[in-house]
Amino acid sequence: MRVESLEAIGKRIRRLRREIERHDRLYYEKADPVITDREYDALFRELRELEEEYPELRSSDSPTNRVGGAPLEGFEQLPHRTPMLSLDNTYSPEELIEFDERVRKLTGLEKVVYTAEMKLDGVAVALTYEDGVLQRALSRGNGWVGDDITRNIRTVHSIPLRLEKGVVPPGILDVRGEVYLTYEGLEAMNRAQEGAGEKPFANPRNAAAGSLKLLDSSLVAKRPLRCFVFQVVEPERFGLATQWETLRFLRSAGFPVSDDSKLCDGIDEAVKACLFFQQSRADLPYATDGAVIKVNDLSLYGDLGATARSPRWGIAYKFPAERKRTVLKEIVAQVGRTGAVTPVAIVEPVELAGTTVRRATLHNEEEIARRDIRLGDTVWIEKSGEIIPRILGVVEEKRPEETAPYTLPSDCPVCASPLVRSDDEVAVRCENPSCPAQVRGRIVHFAARNAMDIEGLGVKAVDAIVSGGLASDIAGLYHLDGERLAALERFGEKSAKNLLASVEESKGRSLARFLFGLGIRRVGRTVAAVLASHFGSLDRLRSAGEEELADIDDVGPVIARSVVRFFRSDEGSRLIDRLLEAGVSPPVEEKTRREAEGAVAGKRFVLTGKLPTLKRNEARGIIEGAGGIVVSSVSGKTDFVVAGKSSGSKRKKAEELGVPVIDEEELLRMTGGGE
Ligand code: IVH
Repeated sequence: MRVESLEAIGKRIRRLRREIERHDRLYYEKADPVITDREYDALFRELRELEEEYPELRSSDSPTNRVGGAPLEGFEQLPHRTPMLSLDNTYSPEELIEFDERVRKLTGLEKVVYTAEMKLDGVAVALTYEDGVLQRALSRGNGWVGDDITRNIRTVHSIPLRLEKGVVPPGILDVRGEVYLTYEGLEAMNRAQEGAGEKPFANPRNAAAGSLKLLDSSLVAKRPLRCFVFQVVEPERFGLATQWETLRFLRSAGFPVSDDSKLCDGIDEAVKACLFFQQSRADLPYATDGAVIKVNDLSLYGDLGATARSPRWGIAYKFPAERKRTVLKEIVAQVGRTGAVTPVAIVEPVELAGTTVRRATLHNEEEIARRDIRLGDTVWIEKSGEIIPRILGVVEEKRPEETAPYTLPSDCPVCASPLVRSDDEVAVRCENPSCPAQVRGRIVHFAARNAMDIEGLGVKAVDAIVSGGLASDIAGLYHLDGERLAALERFGEKSAKNLLASVEESKGRSLARFLFGLGIRRVGRTVAAVLASHFGSLDRLRSAGEEELADIDDVGPVIARSVVRFFRSDEGSRLIDRLLEAGVSPPVEEKTRREAEGAVAGKRFVLTGKLPTLKRNEARGIIEGAGGIVVSSVSGKTDFVVAGKSSGSKRKKAEELGVPVIDEEELLRMTGGGE
């Protein structure tokens, strides 16, 4: 056996780390690998084995630390040393010109030099390096406090764990960037999601955000996340005078920096660059939702200052949603969980916003008639963030001869029972409750993330279970036979076992989730939360009469009737009995206990206007997470109105009724910063 000195081994380890980092950069940033995957794996294996054998030579900045560790209980929340603001948006060249006028007025300059950069559509991240080594990564959070996502960020290969020597002086370096996914990465991830019975992500941004929120960093390591860095905090400490120099500095320090940036002498050039980016975005491998222009001279930033939300030295120019023309080949009638039949367009496949579009929503028959959309038509489709794009209209000159207006079939395409059109609604329905399409839809809804959250029970898994005859309603989920499940084509021992465990775990989900999951007509998430909080137990709700229900704020007579009809119907009450027998027992919500829990529990909130940092559903999540309820309209029973920019009539009503109006900051304070 060859005995090597610790020193020699240390040297070999350092060399391996450098080599691997170099190959990571070539592979992830330049897309130009110079060795095969096999050769790379051999280097990696050698490094891991050496580090295992010589623990004293381990280091937090080793590439082996990118594989992720054991799951966390939750993320620690830490303050940003400098708040993480965001940029204001503009939607037209005119607005960019107005921005330039403001900048010129504030600086007294006649012409301003700008950088124009591609705006990546991902998730903002703040990275802190100490003496060149990555110490901490925080998410934006509310701008002041973010989640400590260091372990997850370490798994992102394009983020250097250690910076190039000699470029960055010792001490702290704070940089900001965006974690994103390429379209190709998203597709691979969605294939894996669907394979595991999970819902695919609607777009690369959601997929990146969902990945960084995972508590198990070894799972994050499997997601093809990437990062671009574009900002240095306190740039003057590094002798940086311009944004353009900053980008160069970041590149030379080893950070991944986008090449889609231009230096522009004056606003006209900057507008031109934005329009050029807009045109070329279809060729990019990643999603962008706009361009960003920034004053190049960093010494002007102090004078320009910032509003509470965004700095005045930069602005985002948002691209219009992408549209394309294609041919409508077929319209299929899709049956949902409530029996409502919706027409879905099957189109000639076309590349749009980075994905291949094959289907588009058509809403309902009336809409098709209104736009006179016919089979064979050339249509405009648009995609703006949703997974399924929509049809905007028809190119009439391209209509083939002999087409006829479209009508929905008269029978259900799944179970063949006659479809029913009622006078009071646009929807056409299949009224056979045992229609397999409805059964599948109800189970998928029950198991969904914001209902009973049963992991592994996505559309494909439900399809297999229903068509295999293993369950014919949601109660059937709690009587699944492990052996038969494992014998289904897409399952197998392990996933069958996992699914049974998730089903078991769902038995104790909250009453609000359970009620929403039942899919009672007109009972959405908010009404479900209101009912759960008002009655506290399933038993009490079940025996409530229409009048009592109708009296509750946010319920009213129509919802009351629907709820009572569900619980009193034979099918409804049998279903509930079977669920209870199977052991489903949403915990009783003791009002007194919940109210003692905090200022938010049991309180009703109305959200209005644009909040400075939180999106609507984030604010809702924070309130609901703290036991509060989000309702849509302001009344005497509302406890708080959370108002942002342009909050208009709801704010006025709150003031008239004497309901306290609070801002985002106050909300975050009340809820403990969204913990
Ligand atoms: S500069 C004060 N440059 O878009 C924030 N942001 O609303 C300055 N983004 O928070 C950010 N690409 O998450 C900047 N080239 C780019 C960007 C970019 C994407 C994101 C970032 C930022 C948000 C702006």
